[in-house]
Amino acid sequence: MNYLEKYFYNNDDGRLIHKWIHYFEIYDRHFKKFREKEIIILEIGVSHGGSLQMWKNYFGEKAKIYGVDINPHCKNLEEENIEIFIGSQSDRKFLRELKKKIPSIDILIDDGGHTMKQQIVTFEELFGHIKPNGVYLCEDLHTSYWLKFGGGYRRRGTFIEYTKGFIDSLNAFHSEESSLKVNLFTKSVHSIHYYDSVIVIEKREIEKPQHLQFGNKSLEARNTKKSMAKRGIKKIKTKLAYYTNYILRIFKLPGI
Ligand SMILES: C[S@@+](CC[C@H](N)C(=O)[O-])C[C@H]1O[C@@H](n2cnc3c(N)ncnc32)[C@H](O)[C@@H]1O
Repeated sequence: MNYLEKYFYNNDDGRLIHKWIHYFEIYDRHFKKFREKEIIILEIGVSHGGSLQMWKNYFGEKAKIYGVDINPHCKNLEEENIEIFIGSQSDRKFLRELKKKIPSIDILIDDGGHTMKQQIVTFEELFGHIKPNGVYLCEDLHTSYWLKFGGGYRRRGTFIEYTKGFIDSLNAFHSEESSLKVNLFTKSVHSIHYYDSVIVIEKREIEKPQHLQFGNKSLEARNTKKSMAKRGIKKIKTKLAYYTNYILRIFKLPGI
């Protein structure tokens, strides 16, 4: 049992937390590197305020926790290091104002209303406000399969269908067609993790990927003068590429 699970099961006297049990492993896997750091967290969906207190306890006193909820009563759940904004996550104007009021975010957890529109609008408005090494987590994606939430298997407009486009953007450096181009997502996302009902997007600045070959070929004549010379030149080229890249990385210049 990880720290968050223990906290949850011992929360008898604390404010109510409502989470699916398997999320705790996912949170800990993607969030633990941020513990005890000076970070900014935003959770959409405050409800009774228990999860905000859980994040405060898990990340430590240097973390600043923000919450968003449509229910005005949630404002009363503010405390030291927990600030709550009242508004709708599907209201672009509200989210744009929010971005002016809070610093860039290290971790965003979308646990709000879980409708397709809410999840898509929140992603479109706030993903750009996540720091270059931050994490975007949206939960309860099972609503993408629930008819009353606007979901349905392979139904157009669900958040799951929307996120399938992320997979193409992630691989866009390899596209040979103008219909798929490198975009901001390609250049700022390191990985996308899908779990039951949860997507986690980890950001990192990405350069054009490269491949190299090290070692000797096993399937051709190896010892003719010509093949030995070719191998020598290739080795020099490979080493040159390796050291050039190494130096460029140190000075943070774009790769060759
Ligand atoms: C599942 S609860 C949040 C649970 C809480 N994070 C926890 O773990 O205990 C969902 C919350 O989202 C809020 N909500 C619903 N629609 C919303 C919207 N359009 N914008 C912001 N919050 C919304 C509800 O008022 C409710 O408090």
